[in-house]
Amino acid sequence: MTVETRPAGPADVEALAHFWHDHMNRRPGLAGWRRIANCPWYGEPPNHGWVAVDDGRIVGAMALVHSVRHIRGREERFCNIGSLYVLEPYRGRGLARAIAGESTADESITYVGIDAAPQTRAVLEPAPVNFRILDDRRYTWRPGGHRARRQVAIGTGDAFDARLLPSPLRRVFADHVALDMLPVTMTSARGTCHALLRVRNKDSDTLYYEAFYLDDADVFGDCAAELADRLLTGRDAILAADSRFFDAPPAAAEVERLRQVRHYKSARLAPADIDLLYSEVPLLDLKIS
Ligand SMILES: CC(C)(COP(=O)(O)OP(=O)(O)OC[C@H]1O[C@@H](n2cnc3c(N)ncnc32)[C@H](O)[C@@H]1OP(=O)(O)O)[C@@H](O)C(=O)NCCC(=O)NCCS
Repeated sequence: MTVETRPAGPADVEALAHFWHDHMNRRPGLAGWRRIANCPWYGEPPNHGWVAVDDGRIVGAMALVHSVRHIRGREERFCNIGSLYVLEPYRGRGLARAIAGESTADESITYVGIDAAPQTRAVLEPAPVNFRILDDRRYTWRPGGHRARRQVAIGTGDAFDARLLPSPLRRVFADHVALDMLPVTMTSARGTCHALLRVRNKDSDTLYYEAFYLDDADVFGDCAAELADRLLTGRDAILAADSRFFDAPPAAAEVERLRQVRHYKSARLAPADIDLLYSEVPLLDLKIS
């Protein structure tokens, strides 16, 4: 077996979608996997993933979901990594590590992994791949106890007005509302925060309203307890946001350890600037831990 590792190009998209669908997970359907190999928001991405190929046949792959963002007024390139899979006969000889290392070597790109299983950590963290822990905990707020305050203004659903978003955020919000995320604005005495929440059950019946994006952590912290009360009524539900967004523990928050950590590799950005948008998670409708 002579196995070659290389970037996937447009001509690989169909075979790659079939590879993930047939070997890794059928639930997202071929259409879901095609979106991973050819994401809807990027006309000509740097690549369509990374593959290991034996005699023309894909035997291993990793998803690379690229995006371009504006962070603190600068254009930044991001890439969400995921869906790492190597066919059984090819395991144990360094293919996953080769794929992960080669595909994340561009220092102009910030790479992000959202929910790493132990076997993924074993591939990503040691040299030469060198991913670092982006976060290992989230803050959570349950509804209850704040109903009387009404100190903050909250806009979601019909009360969310996308025309009031700062212009670089309009496309970002439209892209993620199209993927079923919930847009929220909240205003406290300190200002306004725009957030995108992903609403999903985890293993338990608890419904998580998880902030995949927020643009002002101080204001989010001011408003979170009241937001939980007003948005999460009558449900076993939790509002959550990753810890790295906050300089200090926000008011009334509890801390929950992530069962599976987040990872990053960046020569350009600090953890607090790295959110969870433009990833395979909503494209595949994945549950995260
Ligand atoms: C996980 C997987 C991609 C590893 O592929 P691979 O080509 O065999 O991995 P490598 O040979 O490059 O091994 C890299 C490191 O990971 C470790 N590793 C591999 N599989 C492992 C597992 N199941 N549990 C723990 N560590 C594992 C190896 O021991 C090696 O570490 P070492 O050099 O310190 O010994 C492959 O087993 C697979 O496709 N599994 C099923 C899908 C999956 O679990 N994907 C990850 C979640 S999305």
